[in-house]
Amino acid sequence: MKLIIINGPNLNLLGKREPEIYGSASFEDFYMSLKKEYSQIELLYFQSNIEGEIINKLHEVGFDFDGIVLNAAAYTHTSVGIGDAVKAISTPVVEVHISNVHAREEFRHKSYIAKNAKGVISGFGLGSYKLALESFLT
Ligand code: DQA
Repeated sequence: MKLIIINGPNLNLLGKREPEIYGSASFEDFYMSLKKEYSQIELLYFQSNIEGEIINKLHEVGFDFDGIVLNAAAYTHTSVGIGDAVKAISTPVVEVHISNVHAREEFRHKSYIAKNAKGVISGFGLGSYKLALESFLT
């Protein structure tokens, strides 16, 4: 099973950025622990702050990977382009958020991805990524 986690803008700052919302762990450390725990999965990771690079990555992996775990971060709420890319590819996408976006500002309630996602997981801290991986295993 080949899965990829794709993280969007500002998620490279996890651990330093608003720790009261996003926690104090860096994503790289968490990713290494996921790789150990899910050694049966071929798990890749990509992060970009650039919308077009996220779209290019979705095109690159979106026809032969078994699943994509996508936290498009702020682009979730703004990007028609990322939403269209998720619709265009055949690999299933699970949308994830660390925080519960529905308990936050109104502009975070809108997602351009959710309509074409396999499902949405939001509000379980970094555990949201684990739940998304699990969803591909069951
Ligand atoms: C986020 C929620 C988004 O609203 C925000 O812009 C982020 C992170 C989350 O994981 O909780 O950058 O996607």
